[in-house]
Amino acid sequence: MTAGLITLSAALLCLIDGSDVTQTPLLWVMEGQSATMNCSHTKDHSHDQMYWYRQLPEEGMKQIVFTTAYIDHQYESGFSADKFPATKKDALTGSLTVERLLFNDSGVYFCAVSKHSDTGD
Ligand SMILES: *[C@@H]1O[C@H](CO)[C@@H](O)[C@H](O)[C@H]1NC(C)=O
Ligand SMILES: *[C@@H]1O[C@H](CO)[C@@H](O)[C@H](O)[C@H]1NC(C)=O
Repeated sequence: MTAGLITLSAALLCLIDGSDVTQTPLLWVMEGQSATMNCSHTKDHSHDQMYWYRQLPEEGMKQIVFTTAYIDHQYESGFSADKFPATKKDALTGSLTVERLLFNDSGVYFCAVSKHSDTGD
């Protein structure tokens, strides 16, 4: 397989008010390697749920995984911990890795944070 650069751009989405969330802005990665995107926020510790989404050029935005520090990560169908390992060690930070990158993994990856007590988005 030919090696090439894969672009992952990380954008922000915050389900609460759109501010105070920071994320790795743009990554250029070689095919076959992995890329880790970090997300952190400065909201209070009750915003301890983190969602990761991705939007590929030909698809709408899809949720990959829902993470917290206190329950197991919940992957959506079609996404696995093997390909998309995530970390969530505390309320304010988290990361998503995409393993074994292929060209068709190029896209925009979003993280979102929400409050523990929220019933949904
Ligand atoms: C993400 O955070 C980890 C741990 O702090 C750091 O080692 C890594 O370089 C960060 N990655 C990016 C793309 O900023
Ligand atoms: C990307 O390509 C691989 C290998 O052809 C395939 O298994 C995978 O489902 C594709 N992913 C998407 C999002 O189309």
